[in-house]
Amino acid sequence: MNVYDGERMADQLASRGMAAAPKDDADLIVLNTCHIREKAAEKVYSEIGRVGKKRRLAGITPPVIAVAGCVAQAEGAEISRRAPSVDIVVGPQAYHRLPDMIAEVTAGRRALDIDLPGLDKFDALPKKRKSGPTAFLTVQEGCDKFCTYCVVPYTRGAEISRTWAALVDEAKMLVDGGAKEITLLGQNVNAWRGADDKGRDRGLDDLIRAIDRIEGLHRIRYMTSHPADMTDGLIAAHGDVEKLMPYLHLPVQAGSDRILKAMNRSHSRDSYRRILDAVRKIRPDIAVSGDFIVGFPGETDSDFEDTINLVADIRYAQAYSFKYSPRAGTPAATMENQIAPKVMDERLQRLQALLGEQQLAFNRSVIGQQCDILLERKGKYEGQLIGKSPWLQSTHVEVTGLKIGDMARVHINEAGYSSISGEVLMKAAA
Ligand code: 5AD
Ligand code: SF4
Repeated sequence: MNVYDGERMADQLASRGMAAAPKDDADLIVLNTCHIREKAAEKVYSEIGRVGKKRRLAGITPPVIAVAGCVAQAEGAEISRRAPSVDIVVGPQAYHRLPDMIAEVTAGRRALDIDLPGLDKFDALPKKRKSGPTAFLTVQEGCDKFCTYCVVPYTRGAEISRTWAALVDEAKMLVDGGAKEITLLGQNVNAWRGADDKGRDRGLDDLIRAIDRIEGLHRIRYMTSHPADMTDGLIAAHGDVEKLMPYLHLPVQAGSDRILKAMNRSHSRDSYRRILDAVRKIRPDIAVSGDFIVGFPGETDSDFEDTINLVADIRYAQAYSFKYSPRAGTPAATMENQIAPKVMDERLQRLQALLGEQQLAFNRSVIGQQCDILLERKGKYEGQLIGKSPWLQSTHVEVTGLKIGDMARVHINEAGYSSISGEVLMKAAA
């Protein structure tokens, strides 16, 4: 989502005559920030320090420094105190105001906007846009789930859906601008709801079906989903919407029901499993991905074993796993029985070893198969391009006569932990 937000900020600045410049030469530096874990938030301050120092050393008129995103939202006042070189603080729902704020700064004032005014920022988007072969499209923002460890409901605000018409239009514009694949984004993307062009109440599966009809679009993905919003309709879409890719990112966080309850996850180990069983029944090759937190307050050895045996049971194609990071203002931060860092380290290592094995096994399972690869960027070597398989694996191929944005029919013949490679059989589609 931050990539999407960053691109939209760039669009807005471009429409005011600004253009991207190398970091050392820029008149304006925008740091778009993440507040989800402490490490991400602390990085912002070291980056501000680095940028600020550079401009002192160079002895030139300082570039304007803007901090955008969730750290700006959550720590606006603290940023101003800790980092006097920052001129602009702009929250994730206010970035359409960035050009005006730059004008304020040029007039000699510091500017801060951390309102959460809903979806105004999308109205300010340019109506035409060029796109690479893969594009993001934010359909929903915010979160009402209030998991006890998480800052998102506070930094991004309540769940809110963009309208059907705006999304179908933006999807068409992206395809016109060159996109072959669209990833629908939201903190709880599958909580998207809205009225369609006939006024009927619709869910994400209907929106996917509408976007599926756009000619020239080859692939649709969505992330991130919450198990509680995984409707029968959305599960069914995995069986019959051809452009919907066989990949599902469905965070579970932990395998112990006791911990899931303390996390306020509103699903159990079993209900999570049942969703995946249903998806796999209609789409047996689906690549399942997840998020995990180890060392949530009160997590015992036996709770952690439940995470390990759930992972062993599910078999993930890919996953993200983190040590629990206490975040000020969340209920879990003040819970008793915070877990010692050393225990968290050990648990994370064990979990990541298992997830790594599963990722390698999944990658190897496609050796010998043929699949379409959407070519996205150049590789390290002359003639090499890198694209994504339907299962979101990075795929290296040697090509002649094909270019970025083409789809290639590829025979997969090698697999490692983080990528696969194969031989191009032919160009698959325009
Ligand atoms: N500590 C560690 N991980 C967290 N996440 C969210 N909040 C925290 C936290 N306080 C993880 C969850 C979520 C992902 C985006 O980040 O796994 O799914
Ligand atoms: Fe955070 Fe939970 Fe909302 Fe995901 S569902 S954004 S983990 S509160």
